[in-house]
This record gives sequence, C-alpha cells and structure tokens, in this order.
Amino acid sequence: MDLTLSDEHRQLRELARRFTDDRIVPHATRWDREEAIDRELVPALGEVGFLGLGIDERYGGSGGDNLAYCLVLEEVARGDSAVRGIISVSLGLVAKSIARHGTEEQKQRWLPGLTAGTQIACFALTEPGTGSDAGNLVTKAVKTDGGYRITGRKVFITNGTWADVALVFARTGGPGPKGISAFLVPTDAPGFTATEIKGKLGMRGQATAEITLDDVEVAEDALLSTEGFKLAMGALDKGRMSVAAGCVGAARGALEAALKYAGEREQFGKPIAGFQLVQELLADMAVETDAARLLTWRVADLADRGQPFGTEASMAKLFASEAAVKVANNAIQVFGGYGYIDEYPVGKYLRDARVTTLYEGTSQIQKLLIGRALTGVNAFI
Ligand code: CAA
Repeated sequence: MDLTLSDEHRQLRELARRFTDDRIVPHATRWDREEAIDRELVPALGEVGFLGLGIDERYGGSGGDNLAYCLVLEEVARGDSAVRGIISVSLGLVAKSIARHGTEEQKQRWLPGLTAGTQIACFALTEPGTGSDAGNLVTKAVKTDGGYRITGRKVFITNGTWADVALVFARTGGPGPKGISAFLVPTDAPGFTATEIKGKLGMRGQATAEITLDDVEVAEDALLSTEGFKLAMGALDKGRMSVAAGCVGAARGALEAALKYAGEREQFGKPIAGFQLVQELLADMAVETDAARLLTWRVADLADRGQPFGTEASMAKLFASEAAVKVANNAIQVFGGYGYIDEYPVGKYLRDARVTTLYEGTSQIQKLLIGRALTGVNAFI
C-alpha cells in the first residue's frame, strides 16, 4: 500500500529500511532474550537523524514533518518495536515537548544531547495508583527557596533506567488536572532512583522502570510548564500517532514473515500459501495492516496541515494496536508450531504488540475519547 510520497519521504523511508535491516533485524532476537538492546544503538539512531525528526536544526534536529516521523517509526518497528519505543518516548514525548514548551535555555540544555542520542529521556506520568486516571496523580512538587522539592513514585516508565532526564508530572496545586506541573528532572539528582522492571511479556529490550523521587531538589528552571496535564495530553496525542505508526510496522513485519513462510512451507504436497484458509489469514492481515497505515497517515497529514488531530490519533492508535495483535496472532497461526518458538520472529511481534493496547491510553480510553468527541458527552465522570 502506498500513497504518493515526495522524493524526500521515499529517501528517508529507504534510509530507515536499510538501517533497520543492517542495525536492528540481526540483533532483535538476542536483545529480546537478553532483555537489553545494545546501548550503542541509541547514538547510532541519533547519527542517522532519527532522534531529531521534527526538531529544529539549531538544536541538532533533522527537521521533517509528521509523515516523515511515521515512515521512520514504521520501518524501525518492523525490525524491533522496543527500539521504536525508545524513539517514541525520548524524541516524541519528551524532546518534542521541550521544543514546544521549553525556554531557550531548556532547549539548549537538553535538545542537542537528546537528538544526538548521547542522552535519553523518559516520560514520567503514570503512577502505581493512577494509570488511565492520569489527572489524579499524587506526586508532589513543593516550592522551596531556590526551586522545587519533588516526592512520589512513577511506574512502567519506558527508558526509565537509561534516561538522563525525566519529564516528571507532579502536583503543585489543587486536585485534578489543573493542579499538575511538568518538570525536567536530571536523573542524577540526589533522591532520584530508577529500578528496572524485568520479566515483561514483550518490549523486553527496552529499559522499563519504576521511579522513586525522594525529596528530589530541582532548580526553578526545571519547571517546563505549570499546565502539566495539558502538556502531557498534547504530547500523548502525537504519541498515539507514533504508537500507531509502530504498530503498522510490526503488523507489516508479521505479514511479511508469514507470506515468506507460507510460500516455502509445504504440506499435503504443496506450499501452504496455496490453501484457501491460509490465504484467508493472510488477506485479513494485509487489510488490517493497510487500514491501520491509512488511519495513521491521516493523523500525520492533519498535524502537518495544522488541523486538530486528537480524535483521529485515538482512532488510529485504537485500530492499529488492536490490528497489530490480531495480525501477529494470525502470523503465528500460519507458522504453526514454529510460530511458538523464538527462532522465528512472529511470537515476538505478538508479545511486543500486546502492550500497545495498554500504554499511551488503553483501547478503552481511546474508545471513550472517540465517544466523547462524537457525542459531546463525557463518560469519564
Ligand atoms: N491537548 C491539550 N489539552 C487537553 C487535551 C489535549 N489532547 N486533552 C485534554 N486537555 C485539557 C482539557 O481541555 C482540560 O482543560 P480545561 O479544563 O482548561 O478545558 C484538561 O486538559 C482536562 O481534560 P479532561 O477533562 O479531558 O481530563 P480527564 O481527567 O477527563 O482525563 C483522560 C481524560 C482522557 C482519561 C486522560 O486522563 C488520559 O488520556 N488518560 C490516559 C493516560 C495515558 O495515556 N497515559 C499514558 C502514560 S505515558 C506512556 O504510556 C508512555 C510510555 O512510557 C510508553
């Protein structure tokens, strides 16, 4: 499936394709087994510009629009969704929030390292007691003479143990979304502890952490916004687009693997690709993948034209994440028993896809957001 892409977009996609085939695909199974991506990959992603997409060149960025970002994420996720997640969080949720809301000093301080991949960022919103209900988070930031003292716990934080800077959401005011501010917290600040969560079902190469902030003192200039909840929601709108783009890549990877296998594997004296029920599995996979891509590119197109895209991002994220699970599951069906062992990539596609219906807003949250936009009625309260 393809729409008309500019030469620039095609070249970028080709670069991402080659990078994925050379630097990601050969290692993805090992990273998954060892529960750790090679750390050197991050500056390599920076060198090819994938950590600077959409960021101004003045801060080490590589420019490009939202479609360019989606094209790269699709390719990278075809190789390894865990790598895609590193980009989505460090660049998509954090660096882009700094670029959008930061002071000149904050941009100068953090963006060159993040775009080069010599530094990594994490997005610390979720807490043990507030996942979907992010507006009720309880981490506190109390004003001090020279800045703020932050205390609280965060959980399921992608890049948590690798990060140099954490975008921490903490309560500076009253209850609910309005009382939340956003802070850029250096992770080497005394009292900041990140503990890796091991034994995840998928995305095992990513460093996912539980974070404790125990009276962490930050200077005044660590404050990124006093409208922290709105900043988080705005970042997550684009984040949902990026998860959707990653899901398209994972679904495509599963489909390509299943097509290849179905053409080679013989049963009853012929390749299984010739059986109607196998073709049904493959056809369903292709339709889901292409539909997910079109929904995702619609979000990118709206965002690139400066139009509202939040509801469309929820639609794309909902559809693409559920599609990635279904497509990977079908791929395992095509592979039969071989799909159940990690010598082949399809089991990993399913395990990695599973979290995408949970994070950056569950499928249920996306449905309620879409429902609210359609009806004007808020079902959250
Ligand atoms: N952009 C800007 N502002 C927004 C916004 C958006 N997309 N969405 C809401 N707001 C504003 C609203 O306008 C409102 O402001 P006003 O009162 O001034 O009008 C304010 O924010 C509160 O909005 P809501 O009433 O919609 O807030 P809510 O409490 O009802 O929250 C929710 C709704 C949709 C459930 C929200 O809490 C949510 O999205 N929950 C899911 C949380 C989530 O996605 N977590 C992901 C964790 S991060 C992660 O997974 C990253 C990782 O490491 C992989």
